[in-house]
Amino acid sequence: MAAQVPSGEAALASAKDMLTEEQCRHFHTNGYLSLPMLATPDEVEALRVTYARLFDRRAGWDEGNFIDFAGLNDEKPCVPQILMPSLYEPALRTSALHERCLTIARQLMGPAAEFHFDHAITKPAQGGPPTPWHQDMSFYTRTTTHRTITFWIALQGVSRDDGCLRFVPGSNLGPLLKHRHLHDDPRIHALEAVGVNEASAVYCPLPPGGATIHHNMTLHGADANTSDTARWAYAIGFGVRSPARVVPREFPWNRTSRTARSARFAASLPVRARLRYLVCSALVRLHLL
Ligand code: NI
Repeated sequence: MAAQVPSGEAALASAKDMLTEEQCRHFHTNGYLSLPMLATPDEVEALRVTYARLFDRRAGWDEGNFIDFAGLNDEKPCVPQILMPSLYEPALRTSALHERCLTIARQLMGPAAEFHFDHAITKPAQGGPPTPWHQDMSFYTRTTTHRTITFWIALQGVSRDDGCLRFVPGSNLGPLLKHRHLHDDPRIHALEAVGVNEASAVYCPLPPGGATIHHNMTLHGADANTSDTARWAYAIGFGVRSPARVVPREFPWNRTSRTARSARFAASLPVRARLRYLVCSALVRLHLL
């Protein structure tokens, strides 16, 4: 059973110690936490307006940040996502909601925790595909600088039918499972863990503005969205910068990536940076990095 935070505006107003000791213990033991109210109704509405703007203009297309998470067609994505939406909507980084998440992240990770990434996530109504089981650490590369936790904020109610997140409690303690590209297709961005024991999986339905928090090693995923409502969520990652390389050698499944997103990213770089990126990518494929 997921731990709960006190709900209501009073709970949100307090900037200090937003989580109880029991909630912190639950997170560190199980690798996830469910919060019934993190964003106010006004904040949810503002995020929905921002999302409509972001996806209408396909923000991040040129840099490879507008992607099809689970398919092959970035032009007509089956699961549209925008990586780093705050690059295109800077107000996302200065909101009270952002500060609230940072406060909680520091409570869970210590005072060095800082913003590291955000994702604008959608899953279409009536058939948005399942999100495969994975550990976020599987996406880490040799250039990753932070170990992170992720807030996943529901921008409408989510149930199992809408594809709420589900977690394997205790998987945060390891190990990192072998992963592969979804459908074993290196052109697809999504990764899936191999050999997951999901017998103990916990589903986390949420009301609008509710959130889950998970550790980078926690196995998580979601069912298909079979409801009539598109499922929108705002993910924000906070982490502590690691003094040593987080990933000393590239994970095998990331050596074979061939996504259209990375091609657009490379093309967007200035000439020198592009050459460096292409050389590094080739060395990774040759198992030399
Ligand atoms: Ni994830």
